[in-house]
Amino acid sequence: MREDLRIFDELDPPQRLLMGPGPSNAYPRVLRAMSAPLLGQFDPEFTRYMNEVMALYRAVFETENRWTFLIDGTARAGIEAALVSLIEPGETVLIPSFGRFGLLLTEIAERCGARVVTIEAEWGRVFDMDEIEAAVERERPKLVACVHGDTSTTMVQPLDGLGEICSRYGALSYVDATATLGGMPVEVDTWELDVVSAGLQKCLGGPPGSAPITISDRAADCMRSRRHVERGLAVTDVAPGSRPRIGSNYFDLAMLMDYWSEDRLNHHTEATSMLYAARECARLFLQEGSVRCFDRHKMASRAMQAGLEAMGLTLFGDPMHRMANVTGIEIPAGIDGERVRTRLRNDFEIEIGSSFGPLKGRIWRIGAMGHNARKHNVLVVLGALEAVLKSEGFALPSGAAVAAALAIYDRHP
Ligand SMILES: Cc1ncc(COP(=O)(O)O)c(C=O)c1O
Repeated sequence: MREDLRIFDELDPPQRLLMGPGPSNAYPRVLRAMSAPLLGQFDPEFTRYMNEVMALYRAVFETENRWTFLIDGTARAGIEAALVSLIEPGETVLIPSFGRFGLLLTEIAERCGARVVTIEAEWGRVFDMDEIEAAVERERPKLVACVHGDTSTTMVQPLDGLGEICSRYGALSYVDATATLGGMPVEVDTWELDVVSAGLQKCLGGPPGSAPITISDRAADCMRSRRHVERGLAVTDVAPGSRPRIGSNYFDLAMLMDYWSEDRLNHHTEATSMLYAARECARLFLQEGSVRCFDRHKMASRAMQAGLEAMGLTLFGDPMHRMANVTGIEIPAGIDGERVRTRLRNDFEIEIGSSFGPLKGRIWRIGAMGHNARKHNVLVVLGALEAVLKSEGFALPSGAAVAAALAIYDRHP
């Protein structure tokens, strides 16, 4: 052994309460599921779990889509898989962008070689569907790609009508529901969306590392027209697609559909423990029931917002379009936002978020998602924030925040 080699200590991370824009603390049941024994990906027990995951996520996404499964990787892997599999170089993609994650869609679509057209809303606002429709009519894109809840601004874009507009103009739709799935309604079939992807680490209450995705038949046909079987698998009974091959092997959704189909055409080694986690996240959500789970998120954010305002803080962005799971708060003049975050972490073991780009240093973001969207967490965060702000010299009415939040819960027991 090299003399200078350090093996470091056994992992012993602090028990932080993760109340930022994600990740949030995972449900204990999800962590327990992850420690279940590994299986080979073609073991019949495991392929049964894969099928169960497909069925469970159809219910989570509120869809009948056959092609509903997992992409291995964080939420961004789901986005990248969707865009690289849908977009051929030179095709037009319209992106209504209202925050950092709209810009991420733009960057990924550019990397796919798309002709990207963006419409931009000021950070803190969202679009009227009319604005999106006017841009679709003008640009006639192949694909409209949009974020549902953009955690960077904490705004949520209403999506009802988007799918209908897209199908009227012959476009496909893609939605990044990373931060909303499990916490706010994401009605894939009712909203007629083609491809929607998410992540586990927010409202679904799992760790980062798996991206549920659902794909309409229309979008699947488009991807399958680019279908190619990997050379080493050389099967003769699969006709290659007529369109150019998808520009990524790992994120080739046509190949991944073959892998998740009864054919089980080999692709990657499925991330066993992440699949167990995703399965348990979906079971938890469906056992609680979507309505109760959405209400729990709504109550937590209402109580958080009432507490923050009672403290004399100003909430960020358009009040009509706030996400029900992450709240933006303007950092008061004269207060060092990073010092407050550091003190919350060091003194209270609580993590809250800052933001990016034009909002860097301007807002904090406090989430109450998944396992964490509960009364006691809201009260603990408000109490801790009050103590820190007070000691940083911010004048506020003592005890008002927790009382205001409690009043919300008392009114709606
Ligand atoms: C709306 C949205 N999209 C995409 C992502 C990227 O997710 P990941 O970091 O899991 O790849 C995030 C993460 O915060 C997000 O909030």
